[in-house]
Amino acid sequence: MKITIDKNREVGYIDPDIYGHFSEHLGRGIYEGLYVGEESEIPNIDGIRKDVICALKEISVPVLRWPGGCFADEYHWMDGIGPKENRKKMVNTNWGGVVEDNSFGTHEFMRLCELLGCKAYINGNLGTATVREMSEWVEYLTGTGSTPMTELRKKNGRTEPWKVDYFAVGNESWGCGGNMRPSYYADLYRHYQTFIRNYDPENPIKKICVGPGTDDTEWTKTVLSACYEGAQRVFHGFMDYITLHHYVWPDGWNGKGSATKYSDELFYKSIKKALYMETIIRKNEAVLDDFDPEEKIALCVDEWGGWYDVEEGTNPGFLYQQSTMRDALIASATFDIFNRHCKRVKMACIAQMVNVLQSVILTEGKKMVKTPTYYIFKMYKHHQGAKCLDTYLSDVKTEGPDDFTIPKISSSASIKDGIVTLTVSNLSLNEGSEVLADLGGDKVSKVLEAKIVTAKDIRAYNDFDKEEAVTEKDFDGYEIKEGKLSLNLPPHSVVMIRF
Ligand code: AHR
Repeated sequence: MKITIDKNREVGYIDPDIYGHFSEHLGRGIYEGLYVGEESEIPNIDGIRKDVICALKEISVPVLRWPGGCFADEYHWMDGIGPKENRKKMVNTNWGGVVEDNSFGTHEFMRLCELLGCKAYINGNLGTATVREMSEWVEYLTGTGSTPMTELRKKNGRTEPWKVDYFAVGNESWGCGGNMRPSYYADLYRHYQTFIRNYDPENPIKKICVGPGTDDTEWTKTVLSACYEGAQRVFHGFMDYITLHHYVWPDGWNGKGSATKYSDELFYKSIKKALYMETIIRKNEAVLDDFDPEEKIALCVDEWGGWYDVEEGTNPGFLYQQSTMRDALIASATFDIFNRHCKRVKMACIAQMVNVLQSVILTEGKKMVKTPTYYIFKMYKHHQGAKCLDTYLSDVKTEGPDDFTIPKISSSASIKDGIVTLTVSNLSLNEGSEVLADLGGDKVSKVLEAKIVTAKDIRAYNDFDKEEAVTEKDFDGYEIKEGKLSLNLPPHSVVMIRF
């Protein structure tokens, strides 16, 4: 198998936001996972776990989406500001029916972004909030001068406005966000987005419109057409991004299966589903290319990842699952797709950051563990802000049962400051793969760094009593032969090599 990398053909800029995260008020994602409160014995800064912040800083989190998800469309931001003892409690109807005490609200989220050094992506409530409520949240966050909301913010201890980079109007409005039909949502979107005011003209908030959750592009077409006027398709800048959600339910919604004890067949189905991301992106790119050839609107895949049955004995509404080497491959193959489509895909958020679905970190009391997916984020961070290079795969072998055959390799390459980063995954369950990386006219002279994430068993995972089962290690399975790189990849492995 061969990867030809063309250094002279840049696909586009890989927006660092492609490596973004999502954290919802769901299970132990926020509470326990990220936020333990100032009084906790677990070391924290303003209630936010120090160990988790420290681990997340190592993978360079570019952007964080909050407060949901389905939760966003029932979240009333005013319940989460002011003295904690006075904050209104609510029942989290979407996720386990637990009491939400609103101790983590706007100020705490913005502090978390500050500690992570990342951009803030706030998901507004369209399902159960008025346009006034949404617009006042924007005013509270970013307003300047003396307005009712800025005065309230100051009273709550924050004088300066925050910088909010992204604001979305609703979430999955075709489903948990209100079961809307596309034309109804499109009109509401036009209406609500009007009142996302820009108080800081230097830093305009980018507006995000709800997109589809399947490969059907009807939703995309309808919402886009509502944002263009007349036969000339005049665009008024109503949106900067449109979202896309795609989860890997290995055998459909009712066939998720265990996160750790899956059959070989389910492994192939999972990878195949993950790779289907490319088809969904392509279909939506085609619609966008039609409406927006100037590429003003970007795709934001703000929910993606493996979704399995919850771990035994845990609350079914908390979506807590382990994460194995299969998830590492889902992540690497997905990132390769995002990189290759970076002209349109400018943001993505894994679902979800801590303790929920395909997390990068799991916690249990004081303990914390980094999942295999964490190490993929770590290796791929070199792609952030680089130029994606055109790669061409040839002689690719396939593997797996008839209906679920998958290509044996996935790859992407980028260049930054004259250094090429190549990521290659061997998606094969049991076989090693020889891969030749060829730079055409250019020659590889020196490898600067080479890392690998793999494990003997595809079902291996890191747990609180065996944290190091799947980690990033130095990789020496390469050779430079006449200016080409020959890679010897073990079964189910992900390699990152810089030269
Ligand atoms: O990530 C879990 C849930 O999946 C989100 O709340 C929702 O948007 C999606 O259906």
